[in-house]
Amino acid sequence: MSTATHIIHKNRGQAPTAFERDVTRGQDFCRKFICPEESMRYAGSLEQLVFNKIQDLSPYPTIIEFGSGTGEPVISTILRSKFSGIIHGYEINADSAETAEGLIEEHGLDQHYVIHNMSFFDIPHIPKADYLIANPPYLPCGDKGLLALPSLCGGIDGNEVSKNLLSYNYQNVFLEISSYSNPIALIEYALNQGYKISDFQITQMPFGIYSRQDVVQQRILKMKEEGKAFFTNNCYLVGSALFTKDMNNGIDLSQEFLTCLTSIGYHQNLKPSGNSAMGLSP
Ligand SMILES: C[S@@+](CC[C@H](N)C(=O)[O-])C[C@H]1O[C@@H](n2cnc3c(N)ncnc32)[C@H](O)[C@@H]1O
Repeated sequence: MSTATHIIHKNRGQAPTAFERDVTRGQDFCRKFICPEESMRYAGSLEQLVFNKIQDLSPYPTIIEFGSGTGEPVISTILRSKFSGIIHGYEINADSAETAEGLIEEHGLDQHYVIHNMSFFDIPHIPKADYLIANPPYLPCGDKGLLALPSLCGGIDGNEVSKNLLSYNYQNVFLEISSYSNPIALIEYALNQGYKISDFQITQMPFGIYSRQDVVQQRILKMKEEGKAFFTNNCYLVGSALFTKDMNNGIDLSQEFLTCLTSIGYHQNLKPSGNSAMGLSP
């Protein structure tokens, strides 16, 4: 894979993010996932869609987290909520898991958040839990060896890990879903597994250092032609979705969710009155 400097030069004229400034200062972005914008989005929606409701479900809820990264999103969410249960986080990347363990100890949260440095898919017995949560790898790429951080690969369309997580039959699954990772196929898969979307949020996200890699950009442009990816030159959308099984007469918002997530990148240019030269790139 190309160097960090190469990726920064691909920055299409946008101001460098805080993370990109760290990269130019010599941080090794290949060692662990670092994307503050995305992690903060995950933390915010986790708090609103999961943590604010889960205590009604059980006084000591159990949550399984796929891909904890450095643990910061969940730690900040626990600190902001009255969470009294336990979260088992599975993280395949040793550097990330070590950072997460250090932060958990620093914040005195070892009774509430436990990190397992292993692949979630290698757990011998599926652990019981009230919720499975994840900001999963969703970079579309046919060869993960071409990515700076191979563990962020979501398969050829970017939705393979998410589909896999929806096949474990958890009652509640919270996922971050990218508009460029074939969201239509993913939601169809979820419906076929018996899930409904009971709540969601949508946020716009600038392309970051991982999604700007050449191999990802080439793939998502091809997917856009095929109607599988939705984005503009400026941004894509991330949907935080709460999938629920066996809801008694609960409303299914999957159509609304998809309508929002696929709404970007295909509309007419805006032409504000009095200035027909201005327009948004499709
Ligand atoms: C998009 S990052 C999210 C990290 C963190 N949750 C956050 O939002 O900041 C996805 C994480 O999943 C981890 N991961 C990938 N495959 C995994 C697997 N099979 N088991 C556990 N973790 C995995 C990656 O190493 C990475 O840290």
